Amino acid sequence: VKAAKEHSIPEDLNKVLENKVMETVLDLSSVKLSVVEVTCSGDTDSEGIVSKSVSSHSDLIPGVYEGGLKIWECTFDLMDYFSEAEIEFTNKTVLDLGCGAGLLGIVALRGGAARVHFQDYNSTVIDEITLPNVVANCTSEGRRMGSGKDRKSSSPPSKRPRKADSSPDVLNRCRFFSGEWSQVSQLLLNSNKPGSKYDVILTSETIYNPEYYSALHDTLSQLLARNGRVYLASKVHYFGVGGGIYLFEKFIEEKNVFRTSMVKTIDQGLQRCIMEIAFK
Ligand SMILES: C[S@@+](CC[C@H](N)C(=O)[O-])C[C@H]1O[C@@H](n2cnc3c(N)ncnc32)[C@H](O)[C@@H]1O
Repeated sequence: VKAAKEHSIPEDLNKVLENKVMETVLDLSSVKLSVVEVTCSGDTDSEGIVSKSVSSHSDLIPGVYEGGLKIWECTFDLMDYFSEAEIEFTNKTVLDLGCGAGLLGIVALRGGAARVHFQDYNSTVIDEITLPNVVANCTSEGRRMGSGKDRKSSSPPSKRPRKADSSPDVLNRCRFFSGEWSQVSQLLLNSNKPGSKYDVILTSETIYNPEYYSALHDTLSQLLARNGRVYLASKVHYFGVGGGIYLFEKFIEEKNVFRTSMVKTIDQGLQRCIMEIAFK
């Protein structure tokens, strides 16, 4: 079981963006994975997950690499849903659980969240993808560079980030954690102010493996505020791994702690959906 760790934010933000190439994803910037795959090794990937996922051609290596290097499609479903349903983040305390690139938490930050905490199983993902993405999208220099809106279609698809200036105000609202869910949950319960729980927990493509349901469920029940909401985006079924939305729904029903409602289904390609979860 991977131990929980809080990642400190380097004082020199330029270090965070060093050697990174960004690409535009919707209106956000995200570290380009193909560049991470050739530049990241040794010290910058002490877990060795970059080489392991490349050499095994695998997006998931259970217990070793849980998929956070790439952006999974349900992240985009949840981003669409936030705008359609006008989900409010202003002054909310938000957890991006199983964050990977962290785009959901970044949207919450931009929406005025009071605090956003990011968690991924893998420390390499937090250091090499999540943190750089938050710096690129939420510090003033990074934001200017990352905005795809004013970029002409003839401009190259990716750019080296300009130097980030130190605008730490947004970063003061963020914390970053890696490790397995039950471990991180304990660390958060011990390090957050007593009684301070999350108003909103965002989680995308995190129910593919039924073996993790118990840890995930306990984490949600320990960390969600009494009147809080979880927005979970998922494929209906994960072929090969066995998890899926109906299996997780049944798991939740049996535990009898939460009520669930399916707030959106997406039928293009592999069927996907968004579930809202709240305490009974
Ligand atoms: C398939 S990735 C999805 C990443 C991102 N949410 C997205 O939509 O692009 C699954 C995420 O859940 C996290 N995760 C999966 N199982 C976990 C576990 N047992 N403990 C902690 N984190 C886990 C992984 O680290 C990863 O961030």
